[in-house]
Amino acid sequence: MPKREQVILERRCEGRPSADDFRYETAPMPSAGDGQVLIEVLYLSLDPYLRGKISGRHMSGGVAPGSVMAGETVGRVLESRSPDFAVDDLVHSFSGWCSHAAVAAAEVRRVRSYDLPVSLALGALGMPGLTAYAGIERLADVRENNTFLVSAASGPVGSVAAQLARLKGARTVGIVGSRQKADWITGPARFDAAINYREEDLQEGIKRTCPEGVDIYFDAVGGEVLDLACEQLALDARVVLYGVLAQYNAESRLPGPPPGLIIRARAHMHGLVVYDHEDLRPEMEERCSAWIKSGAIAYNEDVTEGLQHAGAAFARLMAGENFGKTLVRIA
Ligand SMILES: NC(=O)c1ccc[n+]([C@@H]2O[C@H](COP(=O)([O-])OP(=O)(O)OC[C@H]3O[C@@H](n4cnc5c(N)ncnc54)[C@H](OP(=O)(O)O)[C@@H]3O)[C@@H](O)[C@H]2O)c1
Repeated sequence: MPKREQVILERRCEGRPSADDFRYETAPMPSAGDGQVLIEVLYLSLDPYLRGKISGRHMSGGVAPGSVMAGETVGRVLESRSPDFAVDDLVHSFSGWCSHAAVAAAEVRRVRSYDLPVSLALGALGMPGLTAYAGIERLADVRENNTFLVSAASGPVGSVAAQLARLKGARTVGIVGSRQKADWITGPARFDAAINYREEDLQEGIKRTCPEGVDIYFDAVGGEVLDLACEQLALDARVVLYGVLAQYNAESRLPGPPPGLIIRARAHMHGLVVYDHEDLRPEMEERCSAWIKSGAIAYNEDVTEGLQHAGAAFARLMAGENFGKTLVRIA
């Protein structure tokens, strides 16, 4: 009898997650009930927000210890008991960390491949890509020759956001934590400059690369990084807050930048939540897939083979050791 593979959240970890916060096991194979589809999962997406779900603090809800770990996947329909899907359709779902899942058709979205790797539906053409696109199109107000600074710059949100800003005429600068990431953003992803905070003082790096000030800061981290970027804001700057990476593994809230820095720059701060921008998805997919095909947007993926290694891959992501969109290939 074929079995389904799944990964259970063992405990609400404190601090950085480790591989043994998760348990890999097999279980009976599910089948599609009325109105459901049975999905064979091809790729599991590992995203920083899952850390918030483990703590029970994320706005989309928590995941309870003892349950299958939550997560987004792309997969192939093996069996359909819904008129909306056929066998072999490629679909996105919130099936969690498993190899097969029976999911209500209403919670499944068909995925177009655009003749590109289907894994992109979880990265540059998926939720992270939509976050970047919405931030650039709706909040950042990118103008010709603006200096655009972004943290977590080699990740799927940061790298796409900066490349979209470059396509609008901005000069782009990325904050990263390794030489490999710095080489990638200034190489294939064509940023104008990189600051590697493990090799250079961050404050000096921001001044060196943004001497005329930062017109747009796209922040994934919060805390000290946000504070230092705000020190260098140009007049009329826009700050788009899209993540709190420095807080995910911490117990307490991070201090923010002093209000005086925002007042001095007459800056605008925007909180970005991807769920508010679902209407942009078709436009984002059409435009970004064309840019990826033409080479105008580069992407990178950090792919782990096999669901049994998902916990270790997630621990690497939350330690900042991933390089690119973090995925687990299952089928
Ligand atoms: N607002 C929204 O709707 C929305 C939607 C999607 C994603 N997000 C957020 O966007 C941010 C980036 O997500 P992503 O999917 O593009 O992933 P990602 O960039 O691959 O995220 C991991 C990277 O973050 C960096 N990082 C910086 N400080 C860190 C810290 N204290 N601990 C761990 N990593 C740290 C590391 O890169 P370096 O070594 O280069 O620092 C690490 O490789 C996350 O905060 C995520 O939650 C928000």
